Amino acid sequence: MTSFTVNGQPVHYRLDPRTPLLWALRDASNLTGTKYGCGMGQCGACTVHIDGLARRACQVPIGTIEGAFVTTIEGLSRDRGHPVQQAWVAEAVPQCGFCQPGMIMAAAALLERNANPSDADIDAAITNLCRCGTYPRIRRAIAHAGRVIRGEPL
Ligand code: FES
Repeated sequence: MTSFTVNGQPVHYRLDPRTPLLWALRDASNLTGTKYGCGMGQCGACTVHIDGLARRACQVPIGTIEGAFVTTIEGLSRDRGHPVQQAWVAEAVPQCGFCQPGMIMAAAALLERNANPSDADIDAAITNLCRCGTYPRIRRAIAHAGRVIRGEPL
């Protein structure tokens, strides 16, 4: 059995400890906001937070995160939306939307450690792929959310 916390709730999985976190979340916990894109750690569609850091859930065997705190897109905010989610709406970021949960999780993790990232900081931190090419809007939304987090006017 592997035990850790997902979105504030304890979970206990009777799965092979080599099972990727992505599949434990999607198939065992029905948290399908975390997406399967490449399964190879390259696209970032599966990005979640593990102990506050953005990680690619397809590359994390559950046996390696015993006792950790995992947050998925479903747990990012339970009320009016995280500032990043609000900025995503305000800047009309998504196109097809498939990669966006992972993008939002990566952006939230970046802003948690740097609320005023430069374009270079954003490019370094957000290596997720978007086949619709929404990158300019993603940058604008991260800047927008940063201003909200810093308490500055929009
Ligand atoms: Fe995990 Fe692409 S599905 S990085």
